[in-house]
Amino acid sequence: MAQLWGGRFTKETDQLVYNFNASISFDKRLYAQDIRGSIAHVMMLAKQGILTDADKEKIVEGLEGILDDIEKGRLEISDKYEDIHSFVEAVLTERIGEPGKKLHTGRSRNDQVALDMKLYTRDEVHLIDNLLKELLFAILNIMEEHTETIMPGFTHLQKAQPITLAHHMGAYFEMFKRDHERMHDIYRRMNTCPLGSGALAGTTYPLDRDYTAKLLGFDGPTLNSMDGVSDRDYLIELLAALATVMMHLSRFSEEIIIWNSNEYQFVELDDAYSTGSSIMPQKKNPDIAELVRGKTGRVYGALMSLLTSMKGIPLAYNKDMQEDKEPAFDAIDTAKGCISLFTGMLRTIRFNKDRMEASARHGFTNATDAADYLVGKGVPFRDAHGIVGQLVLYCIDKGIALDDMTLEEYREISPVFQEDIYDAISIDTCVNKRVTTGAPGKKAMEEVIGIYKKYMREY
Ligand code: ARG
Repeated sequence: MAQLWGGRFTKETDQLVYNFNASISFDKRLYAQDIRGSIAHVMMLAKQGILTDADKEKIVEGLEGILDDIEKGRLEISDKYEDIHSFVEAVLTERIGEPGKKLHTGRSRNDQVALDMKLYTRDEVHLIDNLLKELLFAILNIMEEHTETIMPGFTHLQKAQPITLAHHMGAYFEMFKRDHERMHDIYRRMNTCPLGSGALAGTTYPLDRDYTAKLLGFDGPTLNSMDGVSDRDYLIELLAALATVMMHLSRFSEEIIIWNSNEYQFVELDDAYSTGSSIMPQKKNPDIAELVRGKTGRVYGALMSLLTSMKGIPLAYNKDMQEDKEPAFDAIDTAKGCISLFTGMLRTIRFNKDRMEASARHGFTNATDAADYLVGKGVPFRDAHGIVGQLVLYCIDKGIALDDMTLEEYREISPVFQEDIYDAISIDTCVNKRVTTGAPGKKAMEEVIGIYKKYMREY
């Protein structure tokens, strides 16, 4: 057992209690943030005359050495310390002696851990945002290539109206674009520095909090020391945003699984992104998409876990808050892994254009256009809807498509029909006449793609 406190205790901590309390097994991943925060703190202490320059130099050199040794694998973070903060301070004191004991002047582990977690989260927001960028590029590439690839659009998983693959992909572009904007927003709101909040009530030392905030790349210090040590909103916001990213990835995965099924065959996954069966030799399974769909639950769970941990915590710091780490780390790792694997899968997926178009041609996806045709000839929409309903029934009975009916057959149901009906319900018309902003028509789609390309240039 190696802990920073003990002066006021008369007994050793029970080993089980010690283990239950300790966080080093998971907060060791914060070593770089912890050291970075300590260096900024010590620089400030010296600037303010609270530490001598000589002590500052020894401490900074010692901390840099520890960082280097951990990174190069020369120093192992030992689980016998209570947490990463105790570990760094103990190793420092072991290495440089007396000055090491001055590191914690004007600081508490409460503001220290609040800072470490913020620094970590801030870096991760940045990394996640970069992964989203790659994903958006992969989607945009598919869009550019497939403005003419016709496929059925679905509602209730029933064929509804023809669209293009570019249009379908554009819906996901919009979703991940919002996710990117959420990352940006979280970063902007969270970027204040809690260091200097002390345990909860600041300190009596003349700290320069603006200076440490600046050294650490924050917009400024937090303005309330109690909130500074006990705010985890930014982490909740990140987990909520990641839950949304995962929900989007999961919907996308579900579609890929359906499209990859034997019945649809809209797509073929690259061998590198599929797996086989140990018993059925013919199988090529979409395991990556299934795992992404499955892992969504873990990320939702992390959000619920942290919200629940925080809901009953009176101000200011309470040990419950140590429970923020494991779910947050797991959710961040999971979401990052899923975004990058999914991007790789999309980059290598093959679309079966013929199957998609053939599917759009069947299933009466042009029925709405037949009704709109009648409206164009002066028939009220409700009557037109009824007439086309009769046409569909007739076709189902004969096993044909609307396009296969003769003009005589059309006119028997309604004399309004003319030769131009065939052009009005052709798949090309159905798609390319839809050119209002946001619609699948090629002209509308190309404009939107132009907007997306500019968006990516400014990302
Ligand atoms: N391991 C703790 C955490 O993660 C560090 C802060 C400890 N502070 C304290 N007063 N016990 O929250």
